[in-house]
Parts: sequence; C-alpha cells; structure tokens
Amino acid sequence: MDSIIVRGNGPLSGQIPIAGAKNACLTLMPATLLSEDPLTLTNAPRLSDIKTMTELLGSLGAEVSSLQDGKVLAMSSHDLDNHVADYDIVRKMRASNLVLGPMLARLGQAVVSLPGGCAIGARPMDLHIHGLEALGAEIELKDGYLHAKAPSGGLKGAEITLAFASVGATENILMAATLAKGTTVLHNAAREPEIVDLAKCLRAMGAQIEGDGTSRIEIQGVDRLHGATHEVVTDRIELGTYMLAPAICGGEVECLGGRIELVGSFCEKLDEAGISIEETARGLKVSRKNGRVKAVDVTTEPFPGFPTDLQAQMMALMCTAEGTSVLEEKIFENRFMHAPELTRMGANIEVHGGTATVHGVERLKGAPVMATDLRASVSLILAAMAAEGETIVNRVYHLDRGYERVEEKLGALGAHIERVKA
Ligand code: UD1
Repeated sequence: MDSIIVRGNGPLSGQIPIAGAKNACLTLMPATLLSEDPLTLTNAPRLSDIKTMTELLGSLGAEVSSLQDGKVLAMSSHDLDNHVADYDIVRKMRASNLVLGPMLARLGQAVVSLPGGCAIGARPMDLHIHGLEALGAEIELKDGYLHAKAPSGGLKGAEITLAFASVGATENILMAATLAKGTTVLHNAAREPEIVDLAKCLRAMGAQIEGDGTSRIEIQGVDRLHGATHEVVTDRIELGTYMLAPAICGGEVECLGGRIELVGSFCEKLDEAGISIEETARGLKVSRKNGRVKAVDVTTEPFPGFPTDLQAQMMALMCTAEGTSVLEEKIFENRFMHAPELTRMGANIEVHGGTATVHGVERLKGAPVMATDLRASVSLILAAMAAEGETIVNRVYHLDRGYERVEEKLGALGAHIERVKA
C-alpha cells in the first residue's frame, strides 16, 4: 500500500486548481441509467471512486468511456442487461446505492446490496427506502440485498417528508421521481450544491424539477429523459481542504475555480480564526500573514451549515490555534478517528461522544500515522505540512478516493510531500 511522506516547512504560495466535485459526479453518473440516450459529463475528477462507479455501471450494462485523461465521461445506458448491484462493488463505496432510484424508475426493478458498515458510522438506508416506497415501490431485504420492484403501471408521484435531510436519499428519490407518473413533492430535502447540480443535469435531460437548493423540491414526472452534456460543479470539499493549507502553513494561495457560495459557513469560521479570504477573478485567495490562528468552535450541519466533510481538516487547523476550540459532529457518529492520530503528532484533543475539545499547542511534531478514512487522511497531511520533522501517512488509498494527485497539487505550492509506492 502506498504511503505519503511529508516534511513540515514554511509558508506556501501559488495557485491550485480545484477539480469537479466527487460527490456530484457520483450521483450524476447513475443518472445515465434514467435514459436510453448518451449522457456526457465534463469537468469530472480523476479519482478511484469514479472508477468504482464506472465498474458498477458497467456491470449493469451501461458503457462508460473515460476521455481527455478522465476529465470527460461519455456514458450510454442504451442496453441495460442486469439490475443487480453486487456486494463486491457496493461494499467498496456507499455511493453505489445511488443506482437504486434510477434503475427502479427505468427498469421497474432493482436489486442493490446494502453497503454494510462504514468506518464513520452505521449509515443506514431507511430514508431512501421510505421515499421509494412512497412512490409505490415494494422493497424487501433478502440475503443482504434490497430487492425493489415498481408497481405494474410504474412509480407514482407522492408527497414525501424526509425525517432527516439526507443527501443520498434526496438524490435517489429525485432521480426516481423524474420518471414517475404525476407530481412528487419532497419536503425536508437536502440543499447541498451537489443536489442543485444533479437537478440541473436532470433538467438538461428533460426532467421537470423546481425548488432544488431549497428544502421543498417539486418534480413533475415525464415519460422519458433524453441525452445531455453537463459540467460537474466545483468540489467544495477539495476547495475547503486546500483553503486550509495556507491557513495552517502560512503564506498565500489562490484556489482556482473557488466560489464563496459553495463554502459560505466554512469561510465565516476561517474569518473568525483570523484567516483572510479574497474573491478574485479566477477563484478565492486565502492568506495567513502573521501569528497563530484563533481557536473557533464548529458544529457540523447539513448545507448551508459547516460541512461534516471539512470537520477533520478544520480540526488539523485548530490543533495549533491559540486557545481551546470545541468541534461538534452532528451528522455522523464515530467521525473523530483522526483525533488519536493527530494526538500522536502532539495535539491535545479530548473526545467525548460527538464532541472534540482541542487545546491548541504551539507546534505539532512529525510521526508515523494511519489514515482511517478519506477526510481523516487529508487532515493528517495538512497537519504534517506545518509540523516539525517528518510524518509518514500510511494507508493512503483512502486519499486517492477523493483527492486527485494530492502530492503534485500541494507540491506545486512549495509543500514537501512525496508518495512512496508500496
Ligand atoms: C453524502 C456524501 C458524504 C457526506 C454526507 C453528509 C456523497 C457520495 N457522500 O453522504 O461525503 O459526508 O453526504 O454531507 O455524496 N441516514 C440515515 N438513513 C438514511 C440515510 C442517511 O439515518 O437512509 C443518516 C446517516 O447515517 C448519517 C446522516 O443521515 O448519519 C447523513 O447521511 P447522508 O446525508 O445520507 O449522507 P450520504 O448521502 O451517505
């Protein structure tokens, strides 16, 4: 397994391009299953999770061609010959469950393995199931697989209220409802930019959707969807992660393609901590010119609140802040696995349930650490970039799921970071 070696050093400077959003792309790709015509995605990120989704769609009979060095995905679901999403693929990536809604709507049936345990919590699928059942589907759990069937006349529009604004449940229900008969109104829908991006793509395919980006989405079902070309929205989590690089190491970095509206609540916290953010013609320029950052408290919430996917990276910043900060994780249980690893680097962190209290120290020290999940891995790299000495981050396959060419991108800013092939 590859590892990454980081040697802590001084201020960073330069520009860093932000890729298309992993989480948007992982829901846009299954949207191809809704139509017989081709769907092309541009600005796709080059990540192993995208390869896993390509493999899954391929196993269902869809064709996915990766063009222009992976930045363009040309997909066709003209001939689907399988409706079973196998455990061997689904267990690798929870987002595989996003084929359920589209397959059910287009083929009238779908068998999808339950993803199983995940390192950051239980992550059940009850909200997806409840929503699709409200559209008329019959869903049964057999041998670890969800067996879903649409009624003989196809799915029917319905009023659905989500008990929690789940991103994945909103996406599955939204995709299924585009081909249902009549109107679907989804209350307490998730409002993340990736949902807005999905709705934009579905509209380009002929779907009738209003209200995306608010908690009430209304979908008027249509008989069929057609082909389209869609540009994947900027990755707000990669953006936030790289905005933290100069915040932690000092210096000035311009994140190309960054926009405030993607990371509003996160920017408020950086501002509170004393980091300066400037909108430029090409993106967002972030700088920390002098002194230590101030400790700030953070609570993760659904969008537009502070994203759970930036909590680990924010904790890396707080490790060397002046004062004590309290980080509350409200979306996932068990999402502080980076805390003991940061502690190995000299951080002073106490975790009680969903709350982590970080007492800032002057400087972290390099150490061998273990990446436990995607965002935890990158938080260790950020921390290591400002630590004294050398840090070896092991198990970096997690990182390759969500960050393309991380060592090249950060290296171009002056960070001392290299990959050691296993
Ligand atoms: C998506 C993102 C993930 C992000 C998360 C929250 C993708 C591919 N992944 O994950 O990076 O961290 O949103 O912003 O887009 N829940 C239930 N029942 C359900 C569904 C969810 O109880 O049926 C719970 C989960 O256990 C979790 C919370 O709801 O505690 C949030 O989950 P959800 O918003 O569904 O996240 P994902 O779509 O899995």
